[in-house]
Parts: sequence; C-alpha cells; structure tokens
Amino acid sequence: MKKLIDLIADELMQAFEKKGYDGKYGMVTLSNRPDLCQYQCNGALVAAKLYKKAPIMIANEVVDSLKDNKTFDKIEAIMPGFINITLNTAYLAEYLNKMSKAEQYGCEKAENPETIVIDYGGANIAKPLHVGHLRSAIIGESIKRISRYLGHNVIGDVHLGDWGLQMGLIISELKKRQPDLVYFDENYTGEYPKEAPFTISELEEIYPAANEYSKNHPEFKEEAKSATFQLQNGNRGYNALWNHILNVSVSDLKKNYDNLNVTFDLWKKESDAQPYIPDMITYLKENNYTRISEGALVVDVKEDTDTKEFPPCMILKSDGATLYNTTDLATMVERRKLFDPDAITYIVDKRQELYFETVFRCAKKTKLLEEKVKLTFLGFGTMNGKDGKPFKTRDGGVMRLENLIQNINDAVYDKMMENREMSEEEAKGIAKKVGLAALKYGDLSNQTSKDYIFDIDRFISFEGNTGPYILYTIVRIKSILMKYKELTGSDLNDTGSIIPSDIPGEISLMLEASKFNDVIEHSFEENAPNKICQYIYDIANAFNSFYHENKIITQEDKGKQKSWISLISLVQGILETCIDLLGFEAPDRM
Ligand code: ARG
Repeated sequence: MKKLIDLIADELMQAFEKKGYDGKYGMVTLSNRPDLCQYQCNGALVAAKLYKKAPIMIANEVVDSLKDNKTFDKIEAIMPGFINITLNTAYLAEYLNKMSKAEQYGCEKAENPETIVIDYGGANIAKPLHVGHLRSAIIGESIKRISRYLGHNVIGDVHLGDWGLQMGLIISELKKRQPDLVYFDENYTGEYPKEAPFTISELEEIYPAANEYSKNHPEFKEEAKSATFQLQNGNRGYNALWNHILNVSVSDLKKNYDNLNVTFDLWKKESDAQPYIPDMITYLKENNYTRISEGALVVDVKEDTDTKEFPPCMILKSDGATLYNTTDLATMVERRKLFDPDAITYIVDKRQELYFETVFRCAKKTKLLEEKVKLTFLGFGTMNGKDGKPFKTRDGGVMRLENLIQNINDAVYDKMMENREMSEEEAKGIAKKVGLAALKYGDLSNQTSKDYIFDIDRFISFEGNTGPYILYTIVRIKSILMKYKELTGSDLNDTGSIIPSDIPGEISLMLEASKFNDVIEHSFEENAPNKICQYIYDIANAFNSFYHENKIITQEDKGKQKSWISLISLVQGILETCIDLLGFEAPDRM
C-alpha cells in the first residue's frame, strides 16, 4: 500500500501543478504542531523565491483548489506561507480498513529484493560470550528480521572467531596440564577419541588461565604462537583438539543464542575462509595491487580526499603470517562465490570502524568485490554500567551473558510475584519473555552508535519507555479482545469495520496506526531498529490514553464498539509485528 503521507503529498502536488507551480513543492511532513494540525506542507515558502511571489499567496491558491477535496477535513494557509492539514477521518478510517485486510498491514515487500549478508554475533570460540557480544547479536537479529520482512533475501552469518592465538593458547595450556594426552603424541597415527577431553566450563577456565599465564611467560607465548602455526598447517593432533574445542564451544553458543531468540542461517567461522587466501594473494600480487613495506605485504588504500594519513591494508605480516584483515578479505571472496550478495552489513563494535573502512577500501580498490556491492559498517556503542564505565560484574570482572540474562529474569520474577498470585512455573515463563523484552528494548531503543547505560531497574519497569511497558500494552489489548469475544461470541475476524470518529484520542491512535509501513521502511533504509521502538512507544501511549478515556467493553453504541474492536485489533497486530521485528514476544498475561 502506498504510504498515507505520500497519498497526501500526491494531492498537494497536483494542486501545486494545477496552479502552475512545480509539483515538487507539494512535499508533506508530519506536523510539528500536532495541536494545530496533523500534517504540513512548507513548499509555498520555498517556491516563493523562484516564482517571486509572497509565500502566503501561493499557499492560498493551493489551499483554494483543495477546498472540496474529500481527503481533508481542514486545510488552511497560515502566515507566512505554511499549509496546515487535517485529514478527513472517513478517509483515515478507510485507509486503516485497507491496512487491516492487506498483507503485512500494507507494508509491501521490495520490488527488487536484494541478497544481503548480515555479519553479526561475532562470538569467539572458547571464550565465553560476554556483554560485548550481546549488542551485536541483538541489533543484528533485528536488522535481519526487518530486512527479511521487506522481502529481501537475507543471510545471517555468526562469523565465529576461531582462527586466532586463543587456539594456540588453549592447546599449549592443555599440553602443560596433560602432556600425556594422545593429541600430543607425534608418533600416533590412529583415530582420536570422539569425546572431548574437557567440558565447556573447563574450557572457559582454560582460556583465561592460559591468557594470563602467557603475559608473564614469554616462552609460553612463543609456544602458543607455534602451536597456532602448527594447527593452521595441518598438525593432526592439534586439529583433532581444535575440532573438540569447536564442538564443545558451538553447542554452548547455540544454547546462549537460543535464549536470546537469536538464530543464524550460517555458522561460518574465520577458518572457513582460509582456503581462499592463497589464490587471493596471488591475484593481488599479479595485478600489482600490493607492495612490500618493511617486509610486510600491503595494499595502499588512501584516497585523494583523505585529510588525514590513512594506513595501508596489511595482507601478510613480515613473517608471512595472515591477519584479521586477510581473513575478512578472504571471507568477502567466499561470500561473493557462495551468494553473490548485493550488500554486506557488519554489526561490530564501533571501535573497529577504521579497521573496516580499511578493509572495505581494499576490497573495492582491488575488485575482490564488485563496485555494486554495498558494504556497510554498523558500529555500535558500548554498554556501560551506572557509573558510566563499561559494564562489569560487582567484583569488576567481565559479566557473562548467561548471568546477565539470569539477573534480569530474576528481577522480573520478583517483581511479578510482589502482588500477584501465579504458579511459580507460569511466573518463570512470563519472566523469561518479559526479561528478554526488557534487555532487547533497553538496547534497541538507543541509536545504535551511541553508548548507553545498562540500568536494570529502569529496563524492567512497567512504566515509561521500556520493553515491559510495550508488552503490558499488548497484554491489555489481548485481554479486552478476549472479554469482548466472551461477551459477544464474536470471532474477532471481522476486521475492517473502522468508522470515522470525532474523538481526539481515537483519531490520534488511528493516525499512529496509519504510519506502520512508513516506519518499517525507514528503519530498514537507515538500519535503525530504534525507529521501531520509538514508534511502538508512541502507539502504545496513544492506545493507553484512548483506553483510559473510553470504556470499550461497556460501550452501548454497537457500531462504535465494533469499530473500536477493529481498531485495537489492528493496533495489536502492528505491535506484535514490531516486537517480532525487534526479536522478542509478548506473553498472554503478565
Ligand atoms: N570476533 C570479532 C570480535 O570479537 C568480531 C567479528 C566481526 N566480524 C568480522 N567479519 N570481522 O571482535
């Protein structure tokens, strides 16, 4: 369905043309004075300069030609030349009825769907998931869902970090602790055990221990480096161990991401890109894109427009080792081969921005990727504690994601049990949904690039701009609809019965509902889930005011009542769609 704001603009544009002006001046925006009107057009002010006429004269002419237009209830020219617009509610009601019946409430799928790879999650094997990875997962999941809702072919890839020094550190630490393990016997040619020689909790203890130890023991660090090198160059025992590390780690990660309602289409790893590296390097060299700088192989990526020094993109270190850059470039080659994407979007900590800019430039300059591929770095800010410093546990350690989620769920659970009677089991189930909403909404309602403060008390509040408030609103609508169904035996499928109204609160709610397709498209174009949050907060507020001013269940005018039921069903559908796009869901009661 065409957006309501565009339909209004069409009328204005035609009017400008009819009066001899360029139609482009008929652009319309939401009113910034909702007390005066719903939409406004400022085109007359701009046109005045070109046509050398007073803006108010132009505005008057345009308004004059729209006097009998059924779209508007009121349209007026205001000094010095604004056009204030209020819609006819019959027109608005008709638009909403069409929305109710349309697929996806009139939010159309893209005419030319794109193939979009979304690189998010970015967890590292054998290192516990911490809150730093939380934002990538939450934001990426939402961007993925929004893009898919608009009909794009979206591939979400977790892109696990499994190729760094952490692997060598773990192997060396294991060797230090259990030198007799068969994996370290160079003469062993048989099969390796199927069972891993460690559990996930052991693994999570091993890595930090090894990392700590390597800081004061250079010889250990050298050993870890050499183990990493041997692993990457085919040492059988090390590869068998690495497989164990991977399996143990991935099943734990899956559990964690499941708890977050985050699902990946691909579980690719940095190591999957390694086979592409040799050919890629040959290609770069043969086409003279590279040069040697202090022994390292680099590609210059500075551009004439740069105002600052821009470092080259390093492909191989002077000792011949590959880097994070090399892997990311090779991953692009792999993605090109497997999916031929139109776009790749990376959702990573904003501190990696310069790094990605370098890699993007290199990929384009060397034509590893075609010019058409849109590369986007969506950098997110830090999640801070109340003290404004990066979020930590009480004893100053890195907070594990699992514990963080548990803390939220417990806090919601306690709150729910304060003044309600509910079985423990039901309360736990609800607390899980509400907790996830609190966490995700608390994150997504901020502009992605901004740092924000993780404030559990605020996030779990049932009032204010929070996830639980949104859920509470949905639950309230559900319960009204249930009651209506019980009382009237209506099947509630009778949508599209919205009739015109003169109740200001109802009109505000109608206007909010009508913006759905516009909001979703913008949130996609700008990679901005926070726009959806802002929208559902507005619509929830509009609903709650309407609810407090009007008694739906006891309304005696049955036509009006049916209209209200249609309207709030539509609002419920919109809200539930939006929270699904944000990656959480509502319970039936709370
Ligand atoms: N594993 C990385 C980290 O923990 C994030 C990976 C981001 N994606 C990428 N293609 N480099 O920082």
